[in-house]
Amino acid sequence: MMDGNLQNDIEKIVAADRAHVWHHLMQHKSLETGEPRIIVEGRGMRVWDQHGKEHLDAVSGGVWTVNVGYGRERIANAVRDQLIKLNYFAGSAGSVPGAQFSEKLISKMPGMSRVYYTNSGSEANEKAFKMVRQIAHKRYGGKKHKILYRDRDYHGSTIGAMSCGGQDERNAQYGPFAPGFVRVPHCLEYRAQWDLSGEDYGQRAADAIEEVILAEGPDTVGALCLEPVTAGGGVITPPEGYWPRVQEICRKYDILLHIDEVVCGVGRTGTHWFGYQHYGIEPDFVTMAKGVASGYAAIACCVTNERVFDMFKEDITDPLDYFRDISTFGGCTAGPAAALENMAIIEEEGLLENTTVMGDYMLDQLSALKDKHKVIGDVRGKGLFLGAELVADRTSKEPVPEKQAQAVAADCMAQGVVIGVTNRSIPGFNNTLCYSPALIATRDDIDQIIEATDRALTKVFG
Ligand SMILES: Cc1ncc(COP(=O)(O)O)c(C=O)c1O
Repeated sequence: MMDGNLQNDIEKIVAADRAHVWHHLMQHKSLETGEPRIIVEGRGMRVWDQHGKEHLDAVSGGVWTVNVGYGRERIANAVRDQLIKLNYFAGSAGSVPGAQFSEKLISKMPGMSRVYYTNSGSEANEKAFKMVRQIAHKRYGGKKHKILYRDRDYHGSTIGAMSCGGQDERNAQYGPFAPGFVRVPHCLEYRAQWDLSGEDYGQRAADAIEEVILAEGPDTVGALCLEPVTAGGGVITPPEGYWPRVQEICRKYDILLHIDEVVCGVGRTGTHWFGYQHYGIEPDFVTMAKGVASGYAAIACCVTNERVFDMFKEDITDPLDYFRDISTFGGCTAGPAAALENMAIIEEEGLLENTTVMGDYMLDQLSALKDKHKVIGDVRGKGLFLGAELVADRTSKEPVPEKQAQAVAADCMAQGVVIGVTNRSIPGFNNTLCYSPALIATRDDIDQIIEATDRALTKVFG
């Protein structure tokens, strides 16, 4: 229970929020009668709202971010110490934590060598797009400038990132978008586009990328940008055979491979630090944000290999021959200071292993729920990054109306468990329940998440 003073403060805070805060992804009419939710405190896997109600957070801060859980004093202390010593200097100079984190990060990414600091996933992706465009100008007279992206993938909220966005509901009404971005088909076998299965399906879905490249002209395509496991587009794990073929196609046509690890990165998928490392991919760009410092500070990175980096320092006599980009907040030292501690925690507490073990357990438990609830059509995921797609009919695979999927999440919330549901993403397909608990999740936590989902499904669907 909150004491009286705090209760008074909280009422003022709720009033201030309602009067002045513009929340993300929210239709605010509901707040004219309802109360905004204010999250006041967090510890481990749990958060408390303005009424003192405890919630088990199965989505790491709502958007798969708080990988090491809440209330990590050691991160807070490292950030505090760093801020007192030096809070900021622009990226034209180095910083102590910036240098240290880059070295540590690169040690986890064989084949990669350079870290460009930014402050959001969207911005990190924009950096990669700009590098691709500049390479096209430097090497190919501007011709090889097109960037391929995949149906259902998401790369951020800026106009550039949305131009590269495969989620039509996210994009609706925000165009016109930037030219030179071209869509390739998704690889979700459950929503099959070809009459094949398993490895054959994976190869066919990758071949579809090659078809787009050939239609556009390989000499016009500079890069392919993909999520290793698609997040907000429905938690899509790639089918067998997909990634080796994708890599082969990129090599064949000299196309740079940009992997967006904003969700998958820094342990989320278990065993490896990054999602792409499960599939033996050799990327040219890797972008990351959310879990890099688990939300203790805003930090994102656009990481490249040396081949890319070298292209930006070829001709010292040319005043345009380098990456002429600025990220003001890329120079904040809190980010790398927090990221160093975040990574140390994951190592010291064995969280990559925990994520694998708990992720497998959770996948099994979700699969058991599928046996019980006909409305679950498919269960997918890797590590502690899971989804359950809800369908009105298993044979036709007709998605449930999104209001019903949202009702399941709302019922879990009422039970004190925060789960996610794909939202304003794919028209007609906002029907996948999403789970991304912190990498510290225990069996008991997972049991509680599964039990809440079980009860909610029974309540909504009988
Ligand atoms: C795969 C992916 N890429 C990029 C982004 C954009 O990151 P940010 O919101 O930090 O700009 C997101 C955000 O959800 C994401 O899921």
